[in-house]
Amino acid sequence: MSLDLKSLVRTIPDYPKKGILFRDITTLIEHPEGFRESVERIAATYRGRDITHVAGIEARGFIFGAGVAIALGAGFVPIRKKGKLPGETIGQNYALEYGVDTIEIHAGVVGPEHKVLLVDDLIATGGTAIAAVGLLRRTGTVCDDAAFVIDLPEIGGADKLRAEGVTVSSLMAFQ
Ligand code: PRP
Ligand code: ADE
Repeated sequence: MSLDLKSLVRTIPDYPKKGILFRDITTLIEHPEGFRESVERIAATYRGRDITHVAGIEARGFIFGAGVAIALGAGFVPIRKKGKLPGETIGQNYALEYGVDTIEIHAGVVGPEHKVLLVDDLIATGGTAIAAVGLLRRTGTVCDDAAFVIDLPEIGGADKLRAEGVTVSSLMAFQ
């Protein structure tokens, strides 16, 4: 029988502020089979699709994105929070479910000849993912696919991302 990945995600109420049900993937990745199978299930969806790079969003997107990149034989592009990348960068502001932030990538790392899969642990409002896709597309690269471990469909981010022409997959949803 296949592993119930959803049962490995822990829910912590009122973190990081009152009213938020925090879906904690640390319990999933601490489980060896849970972690391996999460990465493998995402990779299986995109195998044979000519993905040249996986872009992962700091910090939790690095954990799954790096594994998916290795599994697909693709490069890994870190999308970092402002001020962390040492080279020339391009950046994009975005709104979180609980705050505001800026993401950056190194300039020149991907372009029109590449096909990028965006990977993150979770999509809520979609602000982070929409900013990431917008940032990647500004380079001229193809970024029409995004994969998440967790979708929070009632918040509506995945539908907003689909409205940007992105095909969205997720391993599980929490209502
Ligand atoms: C979380 C999560 C996603 C984003 C989803 O990251 O890992 O990147 O929020 O929210 P959204 O769909 O409403 O934009 P966070 O910014 O908390 O950073 P972290 O990964 O460093 O904890
Ligand atoms: N990022 C944005 N919303 C979140 C939530 N409810 N749980 C975990 N990470 C999140």
